[in-house]
Amino acid sequence: MVDNLQRYGVITCRKVGEVMEAIDRALFVPGGLQPYVDSPVPIGYNATISAPHMHATCLQLLEKNLQPGMRALDVGSGTGYLTACFALMVGPQGRAIGVEHIPELVSFSIKNIQNSAAAQPLKDGSLSVHVGDGRQGWPEFAPYDAIHVGAAAPEIPQPLIDQLKPGGRMVIPVGNISQDLKVVDKNPDGSISIRTETSVRYVPLTSREAQLRVVESKLLTIVWIV
Ligand SMILES: C[S@@+](CC[C@H](N)C(=O)[O-])C[C@H]1O[C@@H](n2cnc3c(N)ncnc32)[C@H](O)[C@@H]1O
Repeated sequence: MVDNLQRYGVITCRKVGEVMEAIDRALFVPGGLQPYVDSPVPIGYNATISAPHMHATCLQLLEKNLQPGMRALDVGSGTGYLTACFALMVGPQGRAIGVEHIPELVSFSIKNIQNSAAAQPLKDGSLSVHVGDGRQGWPEFAPYDAIHVGAAAPEIPQPLIDQLKPGGRMVIPVGNISQDLKVVDKNPDGSISIRTETSVRYVPLTSREAQLRVVESKLLTIVWIV
């Protein structure tokens, strides 16, 4: 998987390749589903683990802000895959924080991380995953050098901009049906520069109730069809 991402130029940074090799995606994908295919995989609760090329793209975009000792926030951490990658990038002096609003996915991610090459950072506390509404960020460890948002927001949440360090970078999908991956840089004077990296398709960054309602309405539709 990583070889292919390197061959097609998605991964150009050696460290990103090493970290994606070290954090085995198979440990984060529910049993029986294909871990190494380059597509998102359902993880329940109307969520997915993002495709490997999206993980690679976001790691590449954030690489300079994931240096040893830096702080990274992963909003909508889902399976915990990227939070684990962040922990290896920032090392034991850094901090990798995941925020996910489905408690069952937080438990799932913690088990996944415990089985992975990021088990030690989880044990020593430089990696942690929390239940919360990621639209509010995670103020306790702010400001962050890097913020990744794994779900599409209708607009960029102000608390996330506020929790970005000057010199920090956020990567966030923005939009509803049509979505763009935005790269948000906080300049040393505190001003913000935003550019579009590419078009994407993510699940929405929303309330827990709205996300679970979609599951319920899909189930109702299935019951009706049956
Ligand atoms: C594409 S999925 C998972 C992405 C994760 N990077 C991965 O690959 O496992 C997006 C995640 O965002 C979560 N999410 C959506 N809205 C959220 C919110 N307001 N606060 C926290 N998590 C949220 C979903 O539950 C889902 O797990």
